Amino acid sequence: MPAILFVLTSASKTLGGRDTGWYLSEAAHPYYILAPHFTIDFASPAGPNPPPDPDSIKDLVNDADSVKFLNDETVKSKLATTKKLSEVNEKDYLAIFYAGGLGPVLDLASDPTNAKLASQFYQAKKITAAVCHGPAALVKAVDASGKSIFSGKNLTGFSNTEEEIGGKGKEIPFLLEDAIIALGGKYEKAPEPWGVKVVVDGHLITGQNPASAGGVGRAILEALM
Ligand SMILES: *[C@@H]1O[C@H](CO)[C@@H](O)[C@H](O)[C@H]1NC(C)=O
Repeated sequence: MPAILFVLTSASKTLGGRDTGWYLSEAAHPYYILAPHFTIDFASPAGPNPPPDPDSIKDLVNDADSVKFLNDETVKSKLATTKKLSEVNEKDYLAIFYAGGLGPVLDLASDPTNAKLASQFYQAKKITAAVCHGPAALVKAVDASGKSIFSGKNLTGFSNTEEEIGGKGKEIPFLLEDAIIALGGKYEKAPEPWGVKVVVDGHLITGQNPASAGGVGRAILEALM
């Protein structure tokens, strides 16, 4: 089967020392939409067993896909054998997807190996997708002319209003909405905080928040089928 790369953060602590990581439902929802059609491999900066955000595990009681993901033997073995980003070859994949959690703002955003890989996917015109804080992993990705891949593009990501409500904006080095706008992106968001918002602009696919993760998965599927 053709393959898609899911990139998860390796960051387990925020700037203020709180536990963090990748957001469970933001990996689980797209995973179960895409896994019937594609091989899914995981990668992270540090490789095996990237840390899930404990807050996202607390939320899982209400979410069947998240429960399934945590107990899924295939997923467990994929997580245990997560590749390091430095071991990934863009040519092996049709698409790249970044789950959120605060983690991507803390490690992936400033990781040169990640910036290079994301730029390779984007420049190869492959689906480059991210949800919630996941687009933070794309702030250093550039097109063939060296310009930010956000420049002039319609996209979304976790909003400043949602950061304010969530109360963790001080735990990360920058706010995603501000960064997108500073890079020339045309930032869009749902009319209400936590509302579903998925934006497709060419092969860049972004979702605003946890509620948008399934929509990002469906948009990736639609783009690849
Ligand atoms: C970007 O958003 C604007 C305003 O909503 C819209 O008119 C335009 O068609 C969008 N561009 C793409 C490529 O989706």
